Amino acid sequence: MIFYFTGTGNSKHVAERIGELIGDSNIKFIADYYDDIIGGKGVSVDVDSNETLVFVCPVHSWGLAKSMRRFLKKVKINYSGSKVYGILVCGDNCGKAREQLQEELWKHNRLKCNFVCSVQMPNTYIVMKGFGTDSEELAAQKLAAAEVQMKEIAEAIMEGKPYDHYVVGTHPFLKGRIVYPLFMAFTMSDKKFYADFNCVSCGKCVESCPEKNIRLDSKKRPEWLGHCVKCLSCIHRCPKHAIQYGDITQKMGRYYYK
Ligand SMILES: Cc1cc2nc3c(=O)[nH]c(=O)nc-3n(C[C@H](O)[C@H](O)[C@H](O)COP(=O)(O)O)c2cc1C
Repeated sequence: MIFYFTGTGNSKHVAERIGELIGDSNIKFIADYYDDIIGGKGVSVDVDSNETLVFVCPVHSWGLAKSMRRFLKKVKINYSGSKVYGILVCGDNCGKAREQLQEELWKHNRLKCNFVCSVQMPNTYIVMKGFGTDSEELAAQKLAAAEVQMKEIAEAIMEGKPYDHYVVGTHPFLKGRIVYPLFMAFTMSDKKFYADFNCVSCGKCVESCPEKNIRLDSKKRPEWLGHCVKCLSCIHRCPKHAIQYGDITQKMGRYYYK
C-alpha cells in the first residue's frame, strides 16, 4: 500500500511510478481521508503483513508537508509486516524531513522504516521573494534523474536492499528544528491569495485543493477559507495564471506535474 500527499503532482507521480515498478496498485491519496481525519472519526487502515508500506510526501520547509504530518498523527495503521519505506519529494534538499517521518511513524504507529530516501523534482515554492520555479531545462533534468532514481528505489524495495540517497542540505538542525516550526506556525495564512482579472471562474482551484479550503463566492470568484496548508496546488494549476499571492507571484513561473 502506498500513501501519498501532493500539492502539485510530483509526489503523486512518484507514488504511482513506484507502485508500477514494484507491482502495487493500492495507492491512497491521504486527502481522500480528509473528512474522517478532520471530523474526528479517525481512520483505521488494515495492511496485510506481506504487503509493502510506502509513504510519499513533499518536503515543506525542510520537514514534512503539514497534511502528511496530521495524517500520520491521526491514522491507525494495523500492520505487522516489516517492509516500510519513505520517499521524500523535494525541490532541492530535505533537512530534517527524514527524521520527522521516522519519528512520526514510530510515535503513532510503531512503524520502523527500512529506509527513507529523497527524490528531487521540479521546484514549486513561489510564495516568497528569492524563490521560484526551475528553468524548463533544469526541470527536465530533474525529471529524467528522478526516473532513474525511482527504478533504483523500486529495485531496493523489491530486493530488500538498503538505499541511502538522501539530500540533507546545509544547516539541517537550524532549518528542521527552528525554521520548520516557525514556518508551520506563522506562514500558513491564506490571506494573501487572490484571483486577478484573468480569472474565468472555472473552479479548478476549488476542485484541486486537497484541503477543501477554496470555494467560489456569490460572484463566482475563489475565496480562501482559512485552513490552507500551503501546498500551492491552486496557484500552480490555475489555467489562466490568475491566482496570485500578494505582490510576489505576478512574474513568477508556474509548474505542476502533467
Ligand atoms: C510550502 C513549500 C515549501 C517547500 N519547501 C521545500 C524545502 O524545504 N526543500 C525543498 O527542497 N523543496 C521545498 N519545496 C519544493 C517541493 O518540496 C517540491 O517542489 C516537491 O516536489 C513538490 O511536491 P508536490 O508536487 O507533490 O506537491 C517546497 C514547496 C512548498 C510548496
